[in-house]
Amino acid sequence: MFNPKKKENRHVLFKGMTDIHTHLLPGVDDGVQTVEDSCRILHFMRDMGVERVYLTPHVMADLPANTVEALRSKYEAFIANRPEGMELRLAAEYMLDGKFASLADDGLLVMSGRHVLVETSYLSPPFSLKEMLYNLRIAGYQPVIAHPERYLYMRGSDYRNLKDQGCKLQLNLFSLTGAYGAHAERNAVYILKEGLYDHAGSDVHQFENYREGASSLSPAHSIARELERIVANNRTLWE
Ligand SMILES: [Fe+2]
Repeated sequence: MFNPKKKENRHVLFKGMTDIHTHLLPGVDDGVQTVEDSCRILHFMRDMGVERVYLTPHVMADLPANTVEALRSKYEAFIANRPEGMELRLAAEYMLDGKFASLADDGLLVMSGRHVLVETSYLSPPFSLKEMLYNLRIAGYQPVIAHPERYLYMRGSDYRNLKDQGCKLQLNLFSLTGAYGAHAERNAVYILKEGLYDHAGSDVHQFENYREGASSLSPAHSIARELERIVANNRTLWE
């Protein structure tokens, strides 16, 4: 059984890591449902060496209860449960859907430097993706595109176009273990080799997936350096 307390089991990437993408605020989305499960994962992460974690619940039209106020109050009630030696903060993962523009007008849950984590459907982009991202930047936000490697409609030139539009790109770490299939794994390696990622997160939704991902993450030599660079760069979103 994989034991994160054993030093030889811990990948260097997790040591001192800031995770900028997690679904550990219990009972608000398709992530962790109970305080106990959330604590179990946070303790495991802490034993792996993770020091800072953004809780980034889904915000989308399909989850109308996830208002800024509701998430803040659930977060305030939850943080007393954090493991010793670990810092937590609240942000969110926003779906770029029909509801998003009005949310942006009211103020978003962001990371340092007004970085805002956004995603789209896996199958197809929203009707006006380029315009939505432009408007977000004009409003003073810095968009961070969650797991671009997973979107079935994106190609090499799309990743570059997003960067040219001023977006940052966030890798899901376990895309590199094949957790989301060969397509996402192949794209992740391509984007890493092109040096287009800015950050990396776990996007953890449940304990077993995190443990499996953490125990099987073993990046090839050709991408290891770049991976270390983007994980270390997460720290800039905590300043
Ligand atoms: Fe996510």
